[in-house]
Amino acid sequence: MPRLLHIDASVRPEESVSRAVAASFREAWTGEVVHRDLAARPVPHLTRDGVSARGVDPAEHSAEQAVAAFLQEELIGELLSADAYLFAVPMYNYSIPSAFKAWIDQILIPGRTQGGTPEESPLHGRPATLIAVRGGSYAPGTPREGWDFAEPYLRTVLADCLGLDLHVIIVEMTLAETVPALADFRDHRRRSIEQAHAAAAERARGLVLQHA
Ligand SMILES: Cc1cc2nc3c(=O)[nH]c(=O)nc-3n(C[C@H](O)[C@H](O)[C@H](O)COP(=O)(O)O)c2cc1C
Repeated sequence: MPRLLHIDASVRPEESVSRAVAASFREAWTGEVVHRDLAARPVPHLTRDGVSARGVDPAEHSAEQAVAAFLQEELIGELLSADAYLFAVPMYNYSIPSAFKAWIDQILIPGRTQGGTPEESPLHGRPATLIAVRGGSYAPGTPREGWDFAEPYLRTVLADCLGLDLHVIIVEMTLAETVPALADFRDHRRRSIEQAHAAAAERARGLVLQHA
């Protein structure tokens, strides 16, 4: 039975579009699931002890290093023991939520989870789905083309560093319903959300078939 590691990062528990699209994926997923909600239960920022513990034999850890290493091992164990990944990540301030960055800082370790090349990562080739949700649009030709520091960064971390086989589903203009200046984009918003739900369910069904 394949195991999915599902990570949510939206601070909105109910109205969240990224959580809703992830739920469509989950409805079609038949395997085991480990769910980590980084908004409900944020992981701590990486500390000096967390970094230094990586280069020290666990038997020699200080009390502080042992605490930091325990958390890292839990998160890395969760990452390494999954067969597939679902990341639901909104755009905050042209980038990713700090809670998701804190998770990345805990798990991305050169020589351990990150290879010199994607092929050298222990996660190489495992399927990952990123649901990247944003209030506006950063598509080519839009006024803020080039302001999206979320998707390119996540592609670098998830595909290039962790070696995951990444499928990206973008949802845009989610703020069109509430921001008057974006009112002309309400249809665009509705279509984008509908397409994302369909794409998420199709992606999950495809992965389930591959594992069958
Ligand atoms: C703190 C914060 C910062 C945001 N910054 C941006 C931004 O820079 N660009 C953008 O397009 N939308 C931005 N948004 C809008 C969110 O990306 C949008 O509401 C999205 O739907 C949030 O994901 P969720 O629906 O899963 O909660 C921001 C929202 C919040 C709460």
